[in-house]
Amino acid sequence: MDREPEEQTAETVRQLRALATPEGAAALSRAGALLADGVDAVAALTRLRAEVGADLAGPAWGIARQRHKARSAFGADADRLLFTSDTLEQAGRPELAARRATRLLAGGADSVADLGCAAGTDTIALARAGARVLAVDVDPVARELTALNVEALGVADDVWVVAGDAVEMVAAARGGEVAGCGAAVLDPARRAGGRRQLDPDRWSPPWSTVVELLAKVPTSVVKVAPGLDHDRVPAGVEAEWVSVGGSIVEALLWGPAVSRTWRRATVVRDGVPHELVADTDPGPAPTGPVRGWLHEPDPAVIRSGLVSLAAADLTATLIDPTIAYLTSDARAESPWVSSYRVDEVLPFNLKKLKALLRERGVGRVVVKKRGSAIEPETLSRQLRTDASGTATVVVTRVAGAPTALICDVSD
Ligand SMILES: C[S@@+](CC[C@H](N)C(=O)[O-])C[C@H]1O[C@@H](n2cnc3c(N)ncnc32)[C@H](O)[C@@H]1O
Repeated sequence: MDREPEEQTAETVRQLRALATPEGAAALSRAGALLADGVDAVAALTRLRAEVGADLAGPAWGIARQRHKARSAFGADADRLLFTSDTLEQAGRPELAARRATRLLAGGADSVADLGCAAGTDTIALARAGARVLAVDVDPVARELTALNVEALGVADDVWVVAGDAVEMVAAARGGEVAGCGAAVLDPARRAGGRRQLDPDRWSPPWSTVVELLAKVPTSVVKVAPGLDHDRVPAGVEAEWVSVGGSIVEALLWGPAVSRTWRRATVVRDGVPHELVADTDPGPAPTGPVRGWLHEPDPAVIRSGLVSLAAADLTATLIDPTIAYLTSDARAESPWVSSYRVDEVLPFNLKKLKALLRERGVGRVVVKKRGSAIEPETLSRQLRTDASGTATVVVTRVAGAPTALICDVSD
């Protein structure tokens, strides 16, 4: 029988507390070992029930699975942290949380309200960066996880976990402080019922609280959806988009006291952050004909509206005023773009494209597209033959015309 949500919450809190006992820790370590040995769920649960009891077996197995998923991001900490599947999904990358915490505290703030702490990963980063942290959440499971996690990672002396509604706390903020803290982190829940909430007014807390916090607490940072409309960014607030390994992972709004510029793209490659900044809107890049190299800007550069800065850096031009592909005479050794050598340029036509690839001995292609409705996987399948050569086919528009660029042909 399904439980009421409150009963389910109370039961999860009870289970988490049971896992924090010495018997619970032993059950977790046994579950982790079974998972590491590749024992399947049914067999593992049967063995766990026999060894640690029915009460601890299921919760221990559930947490062991989340720890296993968390390991690539959280490293050794993953084996001490507790996550539910929801809170792990909501958790940001720890290296970026540490970076945010350092920047937020650089001006001297020593107390921070983490408004919506979930499993406490921002709270931990802030405490490790030297702050006293008030960790707030409406959800009892989140508060329990944060309390246990700060204890497990040895920062509990600097953290106070409290029940509270961030909307009310921000409404009551005075004198640049919220809930008595001189700085704040707000990371609204942007999913509901397993689905992404695209409308910022439906985030929890909603957009109105985001704007109010940035206006009332100048030393603050808010995590927002990477797709946020630039028009929503309040004046005097820096917006930063961060990508790791070519994918956008977060977007941030920095309160006026910690804003340093207008827009920032932070591109993390091989663990090293590279930053492109603009104090004012740099406007569009110039457009020109396709030259020997095509450059695909990193998504953080595109989303932050800084493609023209990358273009200037590479002496490159856009291939079309509406498409974020750049072109220049030389390969770019730059974090802002990935470069492709252009071998052929032709109006997009499947028959002609096939013929040209056959002529060049290409049987396998990676398809990229921008400004085209084609399905890359479908086109890649359609272009597949027995020939041994490989290439990248870029389907896009050049000066308004549907065009295919055959790039990086190799035998
Ligand atoms: C996206 S998660 C935060 C993730 C966290 N920063 C991390 O990196 O692990 C959002 C959290 O805000 C909490 N929350 C949502 N609305 C809230 C409100 N009005 N007041 C306090 N907490 C709230 C949710 O329960 C959830 O735990």
